[in-house]
Amino acid sequence: MKNLQGKTVFITGGGGGIGGGMAQAFAERGARIVLADIDHGFAQEEAAKLPSDVEVFTLPLDVRSLEGWEAARVEAEARFGAVDVLCNNAGISTGFKPLFDVSPEEFERVMAINVTGVYNGIQTFGPAMAARGEGHIVNTSSMNGLSPFASFAAYSASKFAVLALSDALRDELAPQGVGVSTLFPGLTRSRMSEADLGKVSAGDPARRAAIEANMMEAIWLGRAVVRAVENDEPYIVTHPDYREGVRARQERILAAFGEPAQPDYRTGLTATKG
Ligand SMILES: NC(=O)c1ccc[n+]([C@@H]2O[C@H](COP(=O)([O-])OP(=O)(O)OC[C@H]3O[C@@H](n4cnc5c(N)ncnc54)[C@H](O)[C@@H]3O)[C@@H](O)[C@H]2O)c1
Repeated sequence: MKNLQGKTVFITGGGGGIGGGMAQAFAERGARIVLADIDHGFAQEEAAKLPSDVEVFTLPLDVRSLEGWEAARVEAEARFGAVDVLCNNAGISTGFKPLFDVSPEEFERVMAINVTGVYNGIQTFGPAMAARGEGHIVNTSSMNGLSPFASFAAYSASKFAVLALSDALRDELAPQGVGVSTLFPGLTRSRMSEADLGKVSAGDPARRAAIEANMMEAIWLGRAVVRAVENDEPYIVTHPDYREGVRARQERILAAFGEPAQPDYRTGLTATKG
């Protein structure tokens, strides 16, 4: 979508750090912004940070509720017309803990918000974008969605799901003129990362300071998202320092592609998409 001037951008988790960064960056391009968050007060705080000439409104939305999404769509369209860009960005973390310590309720909650929430957004706005032959969907995954590590199993599973869903959807919607991008943030300043940091560095101010120093400011992620929408890029990587971990994991997977398990196995049906 080459020109974002006057376009309407709907951002979930819009009261959070990265959602707020996206709002600022799209506003820099002259877009109109809808900030939706389960905590309406957070969304209002982020809206108040935007320059006064930006057209913005906020609404409460729990991304787990398809009915809530429908009400949000009706309100957004009444205010700004059709939504051109959807940023499915709301998400929660389980924090650093072994999978055995993640309760069934916590597991269900992280999947409901991080995965079903994204699906709900796509179901709400995707068909109208496809019918118009224009639109863009940005889904927030994580570096944990490319390279999982111990103590983040449930969260990583949810973020892998976001990537899989986005890749397949990109193929489905390309012929209809709708773009799909996946954002893979590394450590970025936000309420979530500050809370997680508090847990790992409790009583260790030096560790805290070291991790704090590596946090990226969310506005830069927002600007990377804007460029990806303008250029219809599939993947948005903001923290290249994670590259080696991702490469090593891919190498391990590729190394497992040896001979077929069944000696006389032959097929021409294998998916070969690059
Ligand atoms: N900050 C990081 O280092 C980092 C790294 C990788 C990925 N991410 C991802 O970035 C996204 C944004 O997170 P953030 O870091 O800005 O954290 P954040 O906590 O500042 O923002 C998340 C926002 O989502 C909202 N939210 C939570 N549950 C919701 C629900 N059910 N419905 C609607 N809104 C809900 C919260 O109220 C909050 O405002 C998340 O998907 C997160 O997983 C963050």
